[in-house]
Amino acid sequence: MPKIASATIDEVNNRTDIVALVNEYTRLDRRGSDWWGCCPFHNEKTPSFHVLPDRKMYHCFGCGEGGGVIKFLMEMEKISFTEAVISLAKKNGVEVIYEGSNYQEPEKNNTKDLYIELYTRVSGTYHFFLTQSELGSFAKSYIVKRGISEEIIEKFELGYAPSDKYWLKKFLKEKKYSDEFLKESGLFSNNYPDISFFIDRLTFPIANRKGQVIGFGGRLLRGDGPKYLNSRESEIYRKRENLYAFHLAKQHIRQKKAIILCEGYMDVIAYHQAGIQNAVALLGTALTEEQVKLIQPFIETIFLSLDSDNAGVQATLKSIIVCRKADITVKVISFKEGKDPADILLNNGVEALTRCVDSAIIDVDYLLSFLAKEYNTDTPEGKTKAALSFFPYVEALKSDIQKETSLEKLCQTFSLKPEAVKKDFNNRGLYKSSIQNDKQSKTQQVPVKKEKIKPNVELRAIIAVIANIDCFPKIRTKINAEDFEDAMARDMFIALEDCYREGAVSFESVMSKCSSDGIHQFVAEYITNGEFSINTEKTIEDIIVLLKRNSLERKRDRLTNQIRQFTVVTLEDQKQLESMISEKMNIDFELLQKKDANG
Ligand code: UTP
Ligand code: MN
Repeated sequence: MPKIASATIDEVNNRTDIVALVNEYTRLDRRGSDWWGCCPFHNEKTPSFHVLPDRKMYHCFGCGEGGGVIKFLMEMEKISFTEAVISLAKKNGVEVIYEGSNYQEPEKNNTKDLYIELYTRVSGTYHFFLTQSELGSFAKSYIVKRGISEEIIEKFELGYAPSDKYWLKKFLKEKKYSDEFLKESGLFSNNYPDISFFIDRLTFPIANRKGQVIGFGGRLLRGDGPKYLNSRESEIYRKRENLYAFHLAKQHIRQKKAIILCEGYMDVIAYHQAGIQNAVALLGTALTEEQVKLIQPFIETIFLSLDSDNAGVQATLKSIIVCRKADITVKVISFKEGKDPADILLNNGVEALTRCVDSAIIDVDYLLSFLAKEYNTDTPEGKTKAALSFFPYVEALKSDIQKETSLEKLCQTFSLKPEAVKKDFNNRGLYKSSIQNDKQSKTQQVPVKKEKIKPNVELRAIIAVIANIDCFPKIRTKINAEDFEDAMARDMFIALEDCYREGAVSFESVMSKCSSDGIHQFVAEYITNGEFSINTEKTIEDIIVLLKRNSLERKRDRLTNQIRQFTVVTLEDQKQLESMISEKMNIDFELLQKKDANG
């Protein structure tokens, strides 16, 4: 995919109001010319998140996150640079132009957008029926009786699909949708394209990660039929890739670094009603790798809050393995036989539900007690079966220490000899285990911890220039890329130079050309600290002289060394040459200083 032009990046940066952007994720308060708030990247009670509207930068003194508007969106939404630029461009009405050829953004999959628009419209209509219309009043009283507040009804945009099975078709035809388009929408019966799929049901809109409606769940309230109906998979709705209410929970998931995974729509709604807002639900399938990818960037721990019936237990076992393979810590929330979060909230209240979460047990303990119930572990056969069923879990663990510890726990629980268990574990391929998912795990990359960048004089110099970017046209006449010894500083200078030539010098456009790990954050931290806002002209001039001198000295040493390698040159000649170089260099130094004094 071609690169986005610097001018576009610049424009996006200029047009984006950083305070408004950040405000979408955390509340900011003004202090002087700056804004402060609680950091949206980590959980905190006192504000240490600092936003500088003039510079369009943010920095958290607590966790060290920092950067500009594009970096903010990338981190917040865990999206790529390009995605962030495109998203901000759209929001601010900036046309995205690509570098090089007359590249046009690929024609949007228009039908996809149209179906999303359709679902959004239908969801709004169902919501209207539930909240404003007499038709939906009994559905409304049903949901209210279940202890759900108006606020939650709004937040989840709960709705009611009318009992007139032809109503939706008529309504949408009036809105000029074609029969062919509606036939494929998933909103109508497969065999009878005039009959709604959801009839006389409480509706739960299902949204993608952006919060766009892509499907529905519908609960039966009266009469016969399956308790829930769910939208079929479609071009816009893939069950494996989405989680119910993820868009509503994301902010809380990020802050708590944890997610609660439920089985049903009502479970999620109960958690949110109880103020536990990091809950989401599966969409009928067991937890998939795609769903893990969706949540992994935000979490350390997953709480499994699935039913205690057989299907729920099987889903719990599977999910534990999927999560452990992704190196996510797993805890299991359990409820009394036959109860679910919605029942607990309605019958026992918020505190009871909170207690259930707080007393979640770590997966290894859950598994061992499950195995103790499942097998008669008084007999060697039972013990063997329990151990074999436990091994896939051990295998899924990412570190040897974890593996070792969990095997020890197995030994303690079932009074087994560690040597025997280890032997069996190493030979596990020979046995068949009953907890499935023993597909050989692909070696997964363990994220490398970022080295902290050490600020040297060159980096400080270039950051000072970036912090005072208007001075660059002047500076580039005095200094060039070869004057930098530090590779990162040199890269940044080249980026500045590139942007200058493209006529788009801004923090964002420059940073978009710097690929070094952690550089964005590092620069933001320096700049937001305000280190370069006092006496900047002078600071920069001083730094430039220093850089130039260092660079000249290096050049001189290099030349001197080269001369020494010419053995044909006599000692006398060599001395003379060296002194000539020195002299020439000193003139350069003097000129440099004079130029500096004259400004
Ligand atoms: P449950 O039967 O546990 O329902 O199904 P629930 O979530 O507790 O709902 P309430 O409290 O009775 O209203 C859990 C999930 O399984 C799916 C739905 O996604 C549901 O939320 N399900 C259940 C279906 O898809 N179809 C069904 O017929 C039943
Ligand atoms: Mn329930």
